[in-house]
Amino acid sequence: MNLSSPFASDPFIVIGHRGAAGLLPENTLPSFKEAHRYGARVFELDVYCVEGCLLVIHDDTVDRTTNGTGAVMSLPLSTLRALDAGGGAAIPTLEEVFDWLPDDSALNIELKGPGTGRPVAGLLRQQRSLLTERCMVSSFDHRALLRFREMEDMDRVLVAPLYHQWRDTWTEQVKRLQTLWLNLNHLLVSQKRINAIRSEGVQVLAYTVNTRARAEELQSMGVRGIFTDRPDLLASAS
Ligand code: G3P
Ligand code: CA
Repeated sequence: MNLSSPFASDPFIVIGHRGAAGLLPENTLPSFKEAHRYGARVFELDVYCVEGCLLVIHDDTVDRTTNGTGAVMSLPLSTLRALDAGGGAAIPTLEEVFDWLPDDSALNIELKGPGTGRPVAGLLRQQRSLLTERCMVSSFDHRALLRFREMEDMDRVLVAPLYHQWRDTWTEQVKRLQTLWLNLNHLLVSQKRINAIRSEGVQVLAYTVNTRARAEELQSMGVRGIFTDRPDLLASAS
């Protein structure tokens, strides 16, 4: 275990959701920097792969978060990169986020678009320092996550299946993925479920929590950390 990894060492892990999405345009470099400025040491982001390049964007269209329109997967990479994702910032590449990532920090990469597992694995192999628990890869698409897990060297990366609906089959899923992490919508959290999950040695991260009261409630129930759009309110809670 890499004890300097926030996933290993932080008593309560505060994850900047899409950076600091409640403060600055989501999934942009200024947003990740803002989250770090407020003390978050883990940053969550979403990726799509276009023309072999991993782009950090949440939706399957650019309409909500940029000055453009259209489906991410149908626009040329050059067009996507020229868009304004807010405040003049471009849609960043995952490589640009890696280049910026401070040594004391870690990433949670959500495989959002199709076919992102293989290029993410390729990039992580080039970034050896991230193969030591400084990177968690998650997805709502559990089959894609399992395929990623089975790629060369990716047994060294933390992985977490995401759940927006409760499934009693979580035990089989964590065993299949050989992981001890489960990322849940915070509305799915109950004391009974947390007790059952923790009794299997599995840790829960809950999304998306934007008040200190709810974060403290989840922490007292045994949740290991939260994703937040407001690291300014919550990062100092850890
Ligand atoms: O990983 C937690 C959260 O980011 C999952 O939901 O829709 O914000 O990507 P969403
Ligand atoms: Ca996400």
